[in-house]
Amino acid sequence: MKQYIKPHPWKIIEEGLLPEYNMVSESIFSLGNGKIGQRGNFEEYYSGDTLRGNYISGIYYPDKTRVGWWKNGYPEYFAKVLNAPDWIGIKISVDGQKLDLNTCKITEFKRVLNMKKGYFRKRYTAEFLDGKKIKVKSKRFLSIVNDELSVIKFSIKPVNFDGEIEIITDIDANISNQDANYDEKFWIEIEKSTAVKPYLISETKKTFFRVCTAMENIAEFDGKEIEFLNLEKIEKEKYIALKFTLPVKKGKTTRLFKFASVSSSMNYDKTNLAKAAYDTLEYATEKGYEALLFEQEQAWKNKWEESDIVINGDVSAQQGIRFNIFQLNQTYTGQDERLNIGPKGFTGEKYGGSTYWDTEAYLLPFYLSTADEKVSKQLLKYRYNHLEKAIENATKLGFNSGSALYPMVTMNGEECHNEWEITFEEIHRNGAIAFAIRDYANYTGDNSYLAKYGLEVLIGISRFWAQRVNFSEEKQKFVMLGVTGPNEYENNVNNNWYSNTLVCETLKYTEKVLQEIKNKYPSNYKKVISKVNLDKKELSNWKKIYTNMYFPYDEKRKVFLQQDGFLDKELKPASKLSHLERPIHEHWSWDRILRSCYIKQADVLQGIYFFEDDYDIDTIRRNFYFYEPMTVHESSLSSCVHSILAAKIGDKEKAYEFYLNASRLDLDDYNNDTNDGLHITSMGGTWMTIVKGFAGMRIKNNLLSFKPFIPEQWQDYSFNIRFRGSLLNFEVSKKEILIKNESNKDIEIILFEKKQKITGNNIFKMKLVK
Ligand code: BGC
Repeated sequence: MKQYIKPHPWKIIEEGLLPEYNMVSESIFSLGNGKIGQRGNFEEYYSGDTLRGNYISGIYYPDKTRVGWWKNGYPEYFAKVLNAPDWIGIKISVDGQKLDLNTCKITEFKRVLNMKKGYFRKRYTAEFLDGKKIKVKSKRFLSIVNDELSVIKFSIKPVNFDGEIEIITDIDANISNQDANYDEKFWIEIEKSTAVKPYLISETKKTFFRVCTAMENIAEFDGKEIEFLNLEKIEKEKYIALKFTLPVKKGKTTRLFKFASVSSSMNYDKTNLAKAAYDTLEYATEKGYEALLFEQEQAWKNKWEESDIVINGDVSAQQGIRFNIFQLNQTYTGQDERLNIGPKGFTGEKYGGSTYWDTEAYLLPFYLSTADEKVSKQLLKYRYNHLEKAIENATKLGFNSGSALYPMVTMNGEECHNEWEITFEEIHRNGAIAFAIRDYANYTGDNSYLAKYGLEVLIGISRFWAQRVNFSEEKQKFVMLGVTGPNEYENNVNNNWYSNTLVCETLKYTEKVLQEIKNKYPSNYKKVISKVNLDKKELSNWKKIYTNMYFPYDEKRKVFLQQDGFLDKELKPASKLSHLERPIHEHWSWDRILRSCYIKQADVLQGIYFFEDDYDIDTIRRNFYFYEPMTVHESSLSSCVHSILAAKIGDKEKAYEFYLNASRLDLDDYNNDTNDGLHITSMGGTWMTIVKGFAGMRIKNNLLSFKPFIPEQWQDYSFNIRFRGSLLNFEVSKKEILIKNESNKDIEIILFEKKQKITGNNIFKMKLVK
C-alpha cells in the first residue's frame, strides 16, 4: 500500500517525482474519452521504468497463444488491445543535453489530474549538467467533445539563461506491447508524410485495422505565434517527427501546442483516414486551445451533474469515489455498440482490454443509473451482436440446437482465453449476461429491448443450460458437473451452488419474458420463435430442470454449500493465515489452493447478491458469516459484493471496511498492482457500495427503493440518479434524508418500505432515526 497521492476533493496530486512509483502514477494519471486512452506517460524523454501505453478502443491483435498442453477446444489466439502509435512525444534538448526526467535533476515536480475539468497537468524545474535550469509545465487532454482529438500545451521557461532549445515532436508507430507473447511488433507502416501536416498511417497485422495519427504543432512566444527555426522533417521506418529550435529568454515562457488526431478504419473508409484526421486538426486549430479546453470543461461539468457522488467530512473518501467515477466516465461513453469495457479500461495491457463478465455483473449498474438509457443498452447490444459467435462457440464444444455459450474473454465475440478451467468451465459468465438483461429491463422498464434483442439471447443461454445439466439417477435431481464458479480457487467442481442458481434463474426468467413478449409484442414474439425454432417441449424441459435442480445445502448450519463436498475441507478462517502467505496465489502451490477452503471472491454470496429477493435476511446473514471469514478477497471484484451484503444485513462496520478496500484500491495501490493499469471493474463496484450498499437502492415493483444509512466517518453524502426520465439528487446526513426531484415529472419512490411521492422540482425531507 502506498499513500503518496495528496488528498483533494477534485484533484489527484503527486508532489515530488517518485521514479519507483512512476508506473503506478502512469496508470493513475491515465486519460480517456471512450474511444482512445492514454497512460500518464511523460511527453519528454524518460529512461526510467515506464509502461508507455495508448490504446484505441476496439483495435486489437490476435496474439498467438502460449500454452503448455494443448486441449481440444482451445482458442488459437489471445486478443490484445494494442499499444497504438505514440503521439505524445515532445522531446527537449538544451545545448545538446537531453531533458530526461530520469537523469536530469528534477525539483518542484507536481502531477495533477483535474477530474472536474478533465485534464492532466504537470510542472517541474529541471537542471542540466551545465547548470542551466528550465521550468516546464504541460497540460494535456483527450477531448470528450471530439473523441478523435487530443491536445497538449507544453511551456518552457528558462530560469538562468537566454538561448535556444531544440524540440522534437513526433509520432512513433515503432511500438510494441510489453505482454506480447512472442515479442512481435503488431503494426506495419502503410504511408507517411511530413510535407504539410505530418501524418503516419499504420496497420495492424492479421486484423488489418488501419489508423492515421496526425499532428499539428504551433509555437508561441510572448503570446505571439512564432516560426520554427532550423526545421528538419524526419521520416524513418514507422516514425515521423519535426525537429526545430525555438528561441527562449530567461524568465519568459515559450509554448508549444500539439494537436493530435487519431482516425481509424473502425469509423472511416481506409482511403479517407488522412482526410478525417486533417478535418479533426482543422476543427482544433480553428477553435484554438482555450476554446477546446473550455468545451472540455463544460462537457465534464455535464457528466458530473449526472454522476457525481459528494461525500462531506472525509476528503480521502471524496477523492476516492470521484476518481472511480472519473475513470468510469472516461472508459465508456456508449457511443459505439462495438465497444465494451476491459477490466483495466484503457490504462494498461493486462487482461488484453477484452470484455469479461465484469461488464454485466459490476459495471452495467453505474451506467444504468448515471447516463442515458442508450448507454447501457449499447452494452447489452454488444452481446446481442455476438450471439451468433456464442452459438458457434457452444457448437465447437459439442452443444447444439442454438445453445449459446458466451466467451469468458472476448474482443469480437470469439473466445480468446485458454486455461481449461476457465475457458470450458467458468460458464457462469453466461448467467451474468442473462442477469444483466433482467437488470436493464427492471431498471428502465424498457421491454422493447427484450422483444427486439434480449429474448433471443435468453433463449440461446437457456438452451445451453438445459444441455449442460444432466439428470442424476442417484439424486433424482438435475445436477451440473465440472464447473468453476466465480471462486477460481476451486476448479472442476460439481454443483457449484451459484452456477446452479443461475441455471434456474435464467430458465425461469426466459419463460416469464416469453410470456410477456407474447402478450405485449406478438409480432416480435412470432419473429423470434420462428427464427430460433423454439419448441414447446423445450419449455416443459426447462420447467422440469428448474423445479428439480439440486442445490448442495448444509442442514446443520443452514447454509448453501458452495459445491459438493465443500464440508470435507478443513474449514479455517483466513484470519489464521500468516500475512507472509498472503496473497495465497503468490505463495502457495495451485493444488494447495484448490484443496483449501479459501475463497478468492464472492461465490455463494455473489448469487445471494444477484437474487437477494429470494432469500430472507437470516439466510443472507448466515451465509455471509459462514463464507466471508474464509474469503481471501484476492480479486478486486470481491469487496463490493461483500460491502453491499454487509450493509443489507446491518453490519455497517464491515460494509464500510469493504468499501474502504475498494474505494482507494488504485490511489493507494492496495494490491501492489496498479502499475499494470487501473481496476476499472472494481470502480463500478465502489459506486455500487455507496448507492446500493449505504443507500440501499433497489428496484421494487418498478419503483426506486432506498434504505439508507450513513457511515460514522462521514458528515453527509449525496448522489445523483437517473431513473426513467427523472433525475434525483439523494442526500443523506446524520440527521435527515433529502431527496430533490430535479425533473418536472412527479416520482413515487419507496423509502424504508413506505411509498413517498416527490413532485417535480421539489424536495422531500425525512428525519433519519438511528
Ligand atoms: C477474477 C474474474 C474477473 C477477472 C477480470 C479475475 O481475477 O477472478 O472474476 O473476471 O479477474 O477482472
